[in-house]
Amino acid sequence: MKANLASRVALLSVLALAPVSTPAVATTAGVGTNASLSLTPGNGQISLNLTNTANQVWTIQNSPDLVNWSAVEQVKVFNGLYHCVYPDAGTVFYRTVYDPSAQTIVSTTANALVLPTTNFNYANPALPASFSVNPILAQDNTPANNPVTDAAATLGRVLFYDKRLSTNQTIACASCHQQAHGFSDPRQFSVGWDGSVGSRHAMRIANDRWYQRKHFFWDERANTLEDQVLGPIQNPIEMGMTLELLTNRLAAEPFYTNLFAQAFGTPDITTNRISRALAQFVRSIVSVQSKYDVGETMNFSNFTAQENLGRQLFLGQVGNATCAACHGTDNFVPGPALNNNGLEYPYVDAGVGGITGNTNDYGKFKVPSLRNIEVSGPYMHDGRFATLDQVVEFYNSGVVDNPNLSPPLRNPNGTVRRLNLTATQKSALVAFLKTLTDTAVPTDPKFSDPFNYGE
Ligand code: HEC
Ligand code: HEC
Repeated sequence: MKANLASRVALLSVLALAPVSTPAVATTAGVGTNASLSLTPGNGQISLNLTNTANQVWTIQNSPDLVNWSAVEQVKVFNGLYHCVYPDAGTVFYRTVYDPSAQTIVSTTANALVLPTTNFNYANPALPASFSVNPILAQDNTPANNPVTDAAATLGRVLFYDKRLSTNQTIACASCHQQAHGFSDPRQFSVGWDGSVGSRHAMRIANDRWYQRKHFFWDERANTLEDQVLGPIQNPIEMGMTLELLTNRLAAEPFYTNLFAQAFGTPDITTNRISRALAQFVRSIVSVQSKYDVGETMNFSNFTAQENLGRQLFLGQVGNATCAACHGTDNFVPGPALNNNGLEYPYVDAGVGGITGNTNDYGKFKVPSLRNIEVSGPYMHDGRFATLDQVVEFYNSGVVDNPNLSPPLRNPNGTVRRLNLTATQKSALVAFLKTLTDTAVPTDPKFSDPFNYGE
């Protein structure tokens, strides 16, 4: 029986591949027609997964004998994957058939997406008291001409999860910025649309809205978030798209004309609007629901003794660590300074220096907020550390002297600072970093994938 099931599955995958052909539609130009079917039987059910990067309409058929086939249903793939479950007595075969003349189901807001009737609240998140006073207040990088609205951030959310943003429709922003991982990537180096990898770790996204230097990317090469979000789309390794192809492709989807109209008043799809909507969604990813935030309101009486020791070490109230000098405020970001934390010398990655050409900037990198750090490893711009214990040990004993090492990592006499932490203190520092994990951001539906993948 088991062998029989296994061969049934293998056979069906092959059948699913055979009838695929390229539709002659301009908007899917450059899109591969890769499709595959997998069937997983179990518990009286058969689970069907149809992957199809070209988002086509398919007829699912079944047969008792592999000779006579009858249609079960016609389905459309909306974002690369369709999934459903049928009752299964172990006697029926399934296949999916592609017919170019049967591409009649269009993607509408109602069928392609699973959105709430009233938009989620992105525009006015409840913020802790410290966010409405300086320094955090003045660190807000929201431009006057692109305040977050619920409708445009909703559009931004759809774009963020949409694989149409990559040339072969295989990669979305969310492929590298995964919600469960604090919008970072558990892989050291993310994999782009054609399988190639970059040399930097995908940055976590949380509270990107507050950063005094306002720049984005590890080397701060983007001056605004509105500029930044168009970077990965056109990056040859990441998504490999042109903005012209993207606007044409999106304009062919009725759900997009609808979402653009709701967000911006008219259905026109422009690069500027794509950038504004994506930036709004990214800015709306606000982390303010961690154990640390609760602690702020009750003098940290909710912290364990270990977490409180870690907090005191982080703030430099105990021992000689200076973490808060660079990871300051309730967002754990620096003020105006650009920093080097002594990872290596000579510099393998020039960081900001590679952009400015200024010798003083070599080896300096953006300090991203430490919120959700626990779930977003590996760590540093090159993902060199797999664990927070390794990060703490690096600051304890491994900081490398170099001409651009930031002053907080030196002793008053100029030598490199060694923290000489005990094992108990190191664990306490790690325990404190874990209090920055948000209970909402990694799971909140308003930041989740809105596409309809079937059941
Ligand atoms: C193939 C993986 C990949 C894809 C796809 C991708 N990113 Fe990224 N993202 C990265 C990496 C890697 C970095 C850091 C790159 C660097 O600094 O050079 C980054 C950096 C960022 C940053 C900077 C954060 C900061 O604090 O400065 C933001 C914001 C961001 N990405 C948003 C997006 C958006 C929006 C999309 C989709 C349009 C996207 N990313 C697509 C991998 C990816
Ligand atoms: C002189 C400024 C400075 C000090 C002091 C400092 N850091 Fe950092 N930290 C940085 C910089 C810069 C980066 C990013 C470096 C890179 O990736 O090249 C960073 C990165 C990190 C990261 C990884 C972030 C990520 O997204 O991968 C963690 C975790 C961290 N620091 C924790 C600490 C702790 C804990 C302390 C105190 C023991 C500390 N830092 C002290 C500047 C500093």
